[in-house]
Amino acid sequence: MSREISLAEVKKHNKANDLWVVIEDKVYDLTKFKQEHPGGEDSLISVAGRNGTREFLDVGHSQEAREIMKKFLIGNLAAADIKKKGAVGFKSFASTKVKFYKS
Ligand code: HEM
Repeated sequence: MSREISLAEVKKHNKANDLWVVIEDKVYDLTKFKQEHPGGEDSLISVAGRNGTREFLDVGHSQEAREIMKKFLIGNLAAADIKKKGAVGFKSFASTKVKFYKS
């Protein structure tokens, strides 16, 4: 499970019937999981072939969800692509904070 997968490769799997997603530097094949996803197929399809970390974290997924996702792990995001992804994660944290202060 330690296969390295580039973001360019993830992008090729951007369809409902071929659905890979990056979450926190890890690559998941959610093709089979989408029908079972309690949050619906459409949310997964909307992040197909790209980094879905921000969307995944915004939902505030449970520990149970984190257990389930392990079954669909197919590899790690290639080191060269991790930096960009980290920037997305930081943005997400910042926007969550803004929302918190406004409400
Ligand atoms: C392997 C990846 C994922 C797994 C295993 C997973 C699993 C789950 C589970 C078990 C729930 C029920 C609530 C909970 O236990 O937290 C849930 C809800 C949900 N998920 Fe996911 N999820 C994944 C990825 C995503 C992604 C990438 C998105 C958004 C693009 C998303 C959007 C949602 C939404 C909108 C809900 C409904 C929340 C609600 O009803 O309040 N999920 N997911």
